[in-house]
Amino acid sequence: MSKAWSGRFKEEILKDVELFTESISFDKVLALYDIEQDFAHLEALLKANVISKDSYENIKKGLQKIKEEIEKNEFNYDISKEDIHMNIESRLYELIGEDAKKLHTGRSRNDQVNTDLRLYLKKHILDIFELLKALKQQLILKAKEYENLIIPGYTHLQRAQPVLVAHYLLSFKEAFVRDSQRLIDAYRRIDTLTLGSGALAGADFPLDRFLEASILNFSKISRNSMDAVADRDFAIEYMFCLSAIAMHLSRMAEDFIIFNTEEFKFIDLPDSLCTGSSIMPQKKNPDVLELIRGKAGRIYGDLINLMINLKGLPMTYNRDLQEDKEPIFDATNTILNSLKMMILIVKDMKFRENIDAGNLLLATDLANYLVEQNIPFREAHHIVGNIVAYSLERQKPLESLTKEELNLFSKAFDKDAKDIISKESSILRKKTYGSTHKDFVKKQLELSSLEENIDNNL
Ligand code: ARG
Repeated sequence: MSKAWSGRFKEEILKDVELFTESISFDKVLALYDIEQDFAHLEALLKANVISKDSYENIKKGLQKIKEEIEKNEFNYDISKEDIHMNIESRLYELIGEDAKKLHTGRSRNDQVNTDLRLYLKKHILDIFELLKALKQQLILKAKEYENLIIPGYTHLQRAQPVLVAHYLLSFKEAFVRDSQRLIDAYRRIDTLTLGSGALAGADFPLDRFLEASILNFSKISRNSMDAVADRDFAIEYMFCLSAIAMHLSRMAEDFIIFNTEEFKFIDLPDSLCTGSSIMPQKKNPDVLELIRGKAGRIYGDLINLMINLKGLPMTYNRDLQEDKEPIFDATNTILNSLKMMILIVKDMKFRENIDAGNLLLATDLANYLVEQNIPFREAHHIVGNIVAYSLERQKPLESLTKEELNLFSKAFDKDAKDIISKESSILRKKTYGSTHKDFVKKQLELSSLEENIDNNL
């Protein structure tokens, strides 16, 4: 079969142009979604009396055969057939002859490719959602494993205040909860059938779009055929969701890389998830984490690629839109792999029990102690600032200062003042909901189990 569109052409297309315009080398990923869509379109054609029952049966059989070939990896993708849609149509012609030419009635590749993409995204959102769920579960399990362990919490990468490891780990889980919600929100808009929009103006046959939607499991149908074929917002939203996940993963990776250094020694990474150096025998490198961090840039790039592609693009479909696929597929594969890796890391990482939490971390507690003795906070802050300077000068940790020494700075320090200079008491002094106090961290863990039930019901 010559090119589907060859009717109005007098000359053969140049080989280089064929190579430049083809998309089969990457849109073959859409093969099974395309077939699924063909089945739905076929039903609508029959119902609209556009094709006979015989043709319908014939086409259906052919499509079934092609589906098997694709599933068994036996389908022969051919660059001269340009894209996945034409590849399938031409194979159908080889298999069933003339009836194959009827399948594209009332449809354009413009609404076809849009529909395929939406099917692809719906499936992959669910896959990503499942991996996010697994990651959240691992974070919860790890939080429970280290329920009472305390580490320094950081601001400006400076030791700030003690926090429970569980609190720290659950902080990442919160971010992934938002990521999951964002994906579900994006899913709602992706879940719109655009098939039946034709090239841009709609179809000349009474195709039952609601029937197609129900077969393809779309919850609604698009309202404007021009918007339907021009729109890629749904893909951009999806890519933003992936970028946010990648950003969270990269921040987490960065923390773990730092925590794993000789200088910090907060965590140990399993050997099975690290790599060695080809020159320095002593090295155990956190390459998996570094790659997770690095791949965030790649996913942002994919998002920006798509955004720029769409900027100023005239209504409606333009071939530029063919360029949407590679970034979408790349970001999807990358995020799936990064999530899988991070799940393994969290599952097998270990926090060291003897983490040195330092002492100046308790300066805020000391200031708040003074507030409880009716000293205004700003004044208390100043007094404790002087104590810190004293402690640094004499190289005496805060907790080693005697009551008499504390009284050099303020008479308000009583003998119980010494008790609060401990990381355990610092944790227990926290009184706000959402804080690192162990009761509130317990509450977070309880709520996490509830969230998990909600996830399971989606
Ligand atoms: N391969 C094309 C794409 O991915 C399919 C749509 C082509 N439509 C067209 N009118 N040339 O966008």
